[in-house]
Order: sequence, then C-alpha cells, then structure tokens
Amino acid sequence: MPCLLLKRFKSRRTTLPPESDGARDTTAPSATHHDRAWYIKPMFDFWQSLLAALERIAMLPSLIHSVFPRLPSRKRTRDAVRTYERTMDDLLREIQRLLEAPLTPAELMHMSGRLQEQFAPKLQASDICMLPSYNDKLPTGLERGTYLALDVGGSTFRVAVVELTGKQTNTKSMRIVTMKSYKIDNSVRHLKGTAFFDWMAEKIEAAIADPQVKKITGLKTFPMGLAWSFPVEQTSIRSGNLLPMGKGFRATEGTLGQDLSELIMAPCRKRNLPVHMDSIINDSSATLLSRAYEDPSTRFAVILGTGFNISVHLPVSALATSKYKGYPQKWLDEASHVLVNTELSMFGKNIFPTTRWDDQLNETHVRPDFQPFEHMISGRYLGEVVRLIIVEAVRTAGLFSGEMPEQLTELYSLDTGTLAAMELDGSKSLTNAATLFQEKHPLSKPPTYNDINFIRQVSQLVSHRAAAFLAAGIHSLWDLRIASEGLTPATAGYMAIGCNGSVIEKYPLFRELCQSHLDELTTASGAEPKSIALEVAVESAIFGAAVAVCCLES
Ligand code: BGC
Repeated sequence: MPCLLLKRFKSRRTTLPPESDGARDTTAPSATHHDRAWYIKPMFDFWQSLLAALERIAMLPSLIHSVFPRLPSRKRTRDAVRTYERTMDDLLREIQRLLEAPLTPAELMHMSGRLQEQFAPKLQASDICMLPSYNDKLPTGLERGTYLALDVGGSTFRVAVVELTGKQTNTKSMRIVTMKSYKIDNSVRHLKGTAFFDWMAEKIEAAIADPQVKKITGLKTFPMGLAWSFPVEQTSIRSGNLLPMGKGFRATEGTLGQDLSELIMAPCRKRNLPVHMDSIINDSSATLLSRAYEDPSTRFAVILGTGFNISVHLPVSALATSKYKGYPQKWLDEASHVLVNTELSMFGKNIFPTTRWDDQLNETHVRPDFQPFEHMISGRYLGEVVRLIIVEAVRTAGLFSGEMPEQLTELYSLDTGTLAAMELDGSKSLTNAATLFQEKHPLSKPPTYNDINFIRQVSQLVSHRAAAFLAAGIHSLWDLRIASEGLTPATAGYMAIGCNGSVIEKYPLFRELCQSHLDELTTASGAEPKSIALEVAVESAIFGAAVAVCCLES
C-alpha cells in the first residue's frame, strides 16, 4: 500500500485526460491563463485539424517543415502557425509512464536484488569501489579536541577549525570555530597534478593566517583531517593512493596512484605551515562518523548533492581478505568492523531502466557509464534530464509556443537548484516559479501557467524517480549488512542513516519520498516498520574530518 506521503505527492500533479483532444495547453486552470491565446486558439484548432488531416493522408511531418520552415527570428518562430508531432498532454503522459513505471515496490525490490549481485564481485576484488578504510570503530561521542578540518568538495574547498566537546546537556557537541570557503571553479578544477595541491596549500596558508586560528594553535602544529569527495585507496588511516577523480577534476594527471597525504603535505612543508595530516577519509565516511558522534545508532551515510555516495559500517568479513592487502596484522587481529566507501555511484548499469533522455545524457558525458547510479539521482544530473525533456517538448510538442529559451540547448544549463525553487512555489498561479524561470532562461514573452506547470510536473517525476532509486540502493546495502551480520530483517533492529548534500537535504520532498519507499521495501522484506531513519547531518563532511582525527586519539 503506498503510504500517505506518496499519495500526497501523486495528488500534487495534474491528472491528465486519458485521450488527447489535439489542442495545446489543455491543463490550464482557468481561461485567464489563455489570455494570449484566446483569439489564436480557434485559428490554431483550424490549422491543426487541417494539417492533421493532411498528415494522415500524406505522412506529413517533413512536408509541414518545408511549408513552415525554421524561421530565423525569435518572434516569428514563436508566433508562426506551427504544428507539432504531439500534444503536450500526450508527451507528459509518456514521460509519466516512463518515469513512474519502474517505481512499484516489486520493481524496486528487484533492482535492490540485482544491485546485490553487482556488489558480490566488487566485495571480492575491485580497486575503485567497495573500498575499505582503516577506521574500524565508530566514535563514542565523548571524544574531545580541536582540529583543522579540510573538505575538498566538487565546487568548494573549505578549511575549518572544529571543536569537539563531547556529549553535554544543552550544548552542541560539535562546533565550527572558524571556517574559510574557497570556490573551486573550472580554472581550479582543471589544474593538473601537483598544481592543484599547491593551490590547496596556498588556501590552507591563507586560512590559518587568520588571527583567530593563530590564537588557537599557539606554537603547536595543528592536527589535520581531510574529507575527500573522490575515491581513495587507503594505505593507512592518514594516507591513501589517489584514484581517478570524476566531477571534471584534472589533479590526477601525472599524480594518479601517488600518496594523497604527501601530495598535500609537500607544498605545506614548502610554505612552513604548522600542520600535519592525521586522517584522510572519503566525504561519505566523514558524514557517517559525524552523525555517529551524535547518534550511536548510525550505521550508514548518504551523500547526495552534486555527487552521490554511500558509506557503510560492515563486519570486516563482508569483504574478501584480498581487499585488506597491506593492512597491519594488529589491525586485522583486532578490527571486527570497518568503514567501507561503497562508491555506490558506480553501480546500477543495466539495472535502472533508462529513458531516451538518460541515454542522451550518458552519450554526451565525458565519462559515459563511469557513474550510472549518480547519473540517475544526483544534483548534477536531475536538471540535465529535465533540460533534455524540455528541449524535446519545445521542438515536438510546442512548449513555450515552440520558442527555445535562452541557453537551454547548452548541456547542463538548467540548474537543479532552479527546479527545486520552482517546485517550492505552492501558489495556484505559479507566478514565482514563472518569474524565476524567465529570469534564468529568458523568453520573448513570459512563460504561461501551462508551460511552468509542465516543467514542475516533469521535475517532480524526475526527482521522485531519483528518490525511489536511492531507496532501492539503500535497501540493497541494508540487506548486505544484515546478511553479513548474520541477522534477518526481523532481527536487524533500528538503524539511522546520516544524510548530507543539497539534494537530500533541500530538494522539496526528496528525503520524505525516499523514506516512504524505504519503509515500503524494508517492511516488505520482513523488518519492523520504521526500522531505518534518514537523518540530516548538517556540515557533516567538515565535522566528520575532525571526528576521524579525534577517534585516533581516544
Ligand atoms: C565520488 C565519491 C563522493 C561522492 C559525493 C562521487 O562522485 O565518486 O567519492 O563520495 O561523489 O561527493
């Protein structure tokens, strides 16, 4: 039974008439939204029925384009009498069918099972995913200390002084004393090899030159922890070999496989910076540590912003012994569990059903098939899938009366944040959503209610699909954990998941929808209701980098 929230979500969308009436803009709420078209519509209807009749006789689409060829000026393009291959309703109905069909509990359960089949060989051998760390224990929440925390994300590098004070009543146990953020734009992203790490050292130097930081450090060197939002092959708790980086970075050119700690520390030493690298950890594992510091029932963490990943705390035996090559015997003798960076973004090829828009996205991607799961759900791609649908709707169904909004034919020009803001407009008229869209992607005339309503419905469908696929991914790892702990769904008990990243934290209804699907899947597997809770872990990458260092000291 779909839960209340899913029902509410579905009721947000306009119900489409089962059959097309051949006219555009049939979903407008009132005649006032047809202002521009009240006198044009009968004319359109006349032309459309005439052309439809001709089309039936003579297979006309190409002929229509020769009668009404592409018109150069924007105004003429918009206002010209044109006919389209299909109505907006027909297109929306198809989009809804394609995006919603795979979201039944049975389909999602099947995907979860197939994902587990893909995990099996990677848990035996893979140097790019299912990566064990050297962190075996989770924090107790009592650890204390002040640390320099670094967070290298896809678009910002942040350097913060973090203070951990342990659990106390009425005060926060983690505090950012001071933080500096440095934008990572394309010029930084494209820095090759050691040039990128020189840039990092320069920013660390600038951050610790702050008098507030100097006062805290005194004469000591600063213990430093790094949250790295890319895969890394750990070689100790404080070192790891650089693996291929996604997100458009070129720092691995000439440095691939080198020690990340040394790559950062060498330019820091050159600048005589009073810092030493004590811990390196993937950002998803940092999120897990940070959330576990506050909530001891945390066992997983999800990062879902520009990128996507899940970190899990698993029994050591869940991974083949070959995955612990080079680990000290002492660690192997003592560790019962290990924090694993799954790099879940890399799974899912041939599991998640793709649409023609997903296929287009993959074909034009710089690394097609590298992170298929990420392509379906992360903030970098939700906007892109909606953009591809909009472009098709303008060309084939007359969205915006056939006028292509500015820049919208450029790859990645539609920001997922714009869609989230448009979805937040709960007004009947959708004026704010329309104004925002017009600001970002100007048209010669403001978009109509129906244009904006279409975009909102498409983005709801795309984001809902993402939330459901994420639930399938979490379920598959939950099943893996239960089996490797020797438990059953019924005896697995309660578990919390730390969540961080713009999509899971801020996209309207995203986390709630994911939670609903997850509840459906876990109860269908035989678990107690509400046995998994998705909890927001604010600033957890930066906090987690500090928690990782303090865990070493306790
Ligand atoms: C990277 C992961 C990272 C995630 C979230 C992915 O693209 O491969 O290492 O954890 O993004 O930042």
